[in-house]
Amino acid sequence: MATAIKYFQLNTGAKIPSVGLGTWQAEPGVVATAITTAIQVGYRHIDCAEAYKNQAEIGSALKKLFEDGVVKREELWITSKLWCSDHHPEDVPKALDKTLRDLQLDYIDLYLIHWPVSMKRGTGEFKAENLDHPNIPNTWKALEALYDSGKAKAIGVSNFSSKKLQDLLDIARVPPAVNQVELHPGWQQAKLHAFCASKGIHLSGYSPLGSPGVLKSDILKNPIVKEIAEKLGKTTGQVALRWGIQAGHSVLPKSTNDARIKENFDVFDWSIPEDLLPKFSEIKQDRLIKGTFFVNETYGAYKTVEELWDGEV
Ligand code: A2P
Repeated sequence: MATAIKYFQLNTGAKIPSVGLGTWQAEPGVVATAITTAIQVGYRHIDCAEAYKNQAEIGSALKKLFEDGVVKREELWITSKLWCSDHHPEDVPKALDKTLRDLQLDYIDLYLIHWPVSMKRGTGEFKAENLDHPNIPNTWKALEALYDSGKAKAIGVSNFSSKKLQDLLDIARVPPAVNQVELHPGWQQAKLHAFCASKGIHLSGYSPLGSPGVLKSDILKNPIVKEIAEKLGKTTGQVALRWGIQAGHSVLPKSTNDARIKENFDVFDWSIPEDLLPKFSEIKQDRLIKGTFFVNETYGAYKTVEELWDGEV
């Protein structure tokens, strides 16, 4: 009998559902339907961000689900993220207030610093000349205040290397609960995984299917993933997701397609047998989201991709 692995416990004591619906690249016009389908199928975790420009539609969908009695607020886990141009400590509470207004919520379960990258105040759109030098300790203090206020029940980061996490741990009063990063069988992040495990920081995986739509990755066509999927009678997407939760990561597959939303949640009553797990270490590793748009010779804090990820590339 497989262990379901429905939740992971964070260092705050809260339980984060292991499969969340990703909403990056979910167009405003279709995201509401996707949220409704997902909640009806059983998802209790939605991963959002100001930068995805669809939080107001997600908020309307959630409001209707609450009003119709389909689900209660306290049964859901909602994550959102602070955008790079809102890092100034005065802007952090305003940014969360806007997110809460858009999502029509009075608290968020998890609020993350989206990137260890800062952009000049008031510059929403991304342009290289708007890149700035982040002051993560100052921004983190502002997140700690949101945690103290109860508006953010947990706080964390996204796209942080082991080094950047250690720097943060060195100054944090409230340690980060989560680091959300790219994670899938083709980018397993063994070093970061070990570091986070040793520090009690939960790793949450974005692009857990390798973003086959946007990034055109072929992880779902990888021969090893395919062979395991055929052996288990599952799809390659399900194998990629189950690999993630068996590794201890929550996974955030994005889909706006009803059948795939259902398929991606069907990962609890079976498992990848122990003897097949070593096969995953044979898969060629490659980071898909390199963050090159945040790397610039003239502007910002990072002149190379290696600097952005502190060599974890
Ligand atoms: P769609 O929204 O049409 O389902 P990731 O979460 O790794 O970023 O991947 C998201 C991409 O993968 C989207 O293009 C999504 O398209 C597609 N996708 C989602 N679920 C599956 C699946 N089970 N099998 C194949 N592709 C999927």
